[in-house]
Amino acid sequence: MLDEAIAQKLDIEKFSSTPNTFCIADVGCSVGPNTFIAMQNILEAVGRKYESKALASELPEFQVFFNDHAMNDFNTLFTTLPPEKHYFAAGVPGSFHGRLFPKSSLHVVHASYALHWLSKVPEEVQDKDSPAWNKGRIYYTRASDEVANAYAAQFAKDMDNFLNFRATEIVVGGMMLLVMTVIQDGFHRSQSAGGFLYDELGSSLMDMAHEGLINEALIDTFNLPVYTTTMNEMARLVERNGYFNIERMKLTDPILNVEGPADMQMCTMHIRAAVEGVLTKHFGSEIIDELFTRFYQKAAKYPLIESKYKKGNLLFLALKRK
Ligand SMILES: C[S@@+](CC[C@H](N)C(=O)[O-])C[C@H]1O[C@@H](n2cnc3c(N)ncnc32)[C@H](O)[C@@H]1O
Repeated sequence: MLDEAIAQKLDIEKFSSTPNTFCIADVGCSVGPNTFIAMQNILEAVGRKYESKALASELPEFQVFFNDHAMNDFNTLFTTLPPEKHYFAAGVPGSFHGRLFPKSSLHVVHASYALHWLSKVPEEVQDKDSPAWNKGRIYYTRASDEVANAYAAQFAKDMDNFLNFRATEIVVGGMMLLVMTVIQDGFHRSQSAGGFLYDELGSSLMDMAHEGLINEALIDTFNLPVYTTTMNEMARLVERNGYFNIERMKLTDPILNVEGPADMQMCTMHIRAAVEGVLTKHFGSEIIDELFTRFYQKAAKYPLIESKYKKGNLLFLALKRK
C-alpha cells in the first residue's frame, strides 16, 4: 500500500528545484526494527519512482529523521541501525503534538501505531464536578457518552494540531503515510480490541483497590491518554483541517491477532510495554507485576475478542500536502 501510494501519488517533479536531499521522518518510531523496515520500504518505493520517471540519474541522497519522545531509547535505535542502510540517520526528540522540523523541510512523514496517543488526558474526565468524570475507570470505551465525547474532542484537537504542524513542515506535494488502529464504523466503542483490553486493565486495578492494595482515589485520577478513531472520523478531521488531500484510505487486518490464552500472554506483553510508563508514573512501580498478572488471568478467561471486531481495524491513510 505504501509502495503504491508513493508510485502513484508522490510528485517528485515538484521537488527537483529543492536541494538534492530527500527527507523522510518517522514520528513515534520507538526503537526498531519496524521503523527500519518502514524507512527501507519508503526509500525503495521513492527510488523506483525516480527510475519510472527516467530520473534515476537525479536520485537524491536520503535523510531519515527518527522521532519519538526524548526518553525513547535512542541509543538502542542508533546501535541497531541496519548496516546496509542507504540514508543518513538523525534522531529528533520531542512530541509529534508540537513542531519538530523546519518549515517545508520534509518530503514524506510516516507514523505507525502512534497517533492513538493523545497529547493529554481530557481535563473533564478527571474533574469531580464534571458530568464527564470517569470515576472507577481508566478508559472511555465502556464509560458514559460524556466521557467518550471528551476523549473524541481531545483527539480532534490533537489531530488538527498534528496536521497543522506537519503541513508547515512538509513541502507542497509531499506525503504523509499513516498506519493507525481504528474501530470499524458502526461498532460501539466498547467493541474495539483496545477497549476490551484497557477495560480489563482498569477492572484489575479496581480489584486491587477493593483488596486494599491501591487507593481507589488514585484510580479516579488516572485515565489512559489513548483514543481509537474510526475511518470516517479520520476522514472528517483531515477534510476539516484542509491542508491535505486524502489519496488512499484502506482498512486492513491488524498484525497482532488475539486468538486465545496463549496469544493473550503476548498481548499482555504488548499492552504492558505500551502503558507501563504512564502507569508507573501515577501508581509507582511496586504494583505493576501484580497488576499485569491479574490482567492476564482476567483477560485470558474470556472467549476473547470476537473475530469480527479484530478484522479490518488497521487503517492505512496516504495524505498529500496541498
Ligand atoms: C506502539 S509504538 C509504535 C512504534 C513504531 N512506529 C511501530 O510501528 O512499531 C508507539 C510509539 O509512539 C511514541 N509516541 C507516543 N506519543 C508520542 C508523541 N506525542 N510524540 C512522539 N512519539 C510518541 C511512543 O513513545 C512509542 O514509541
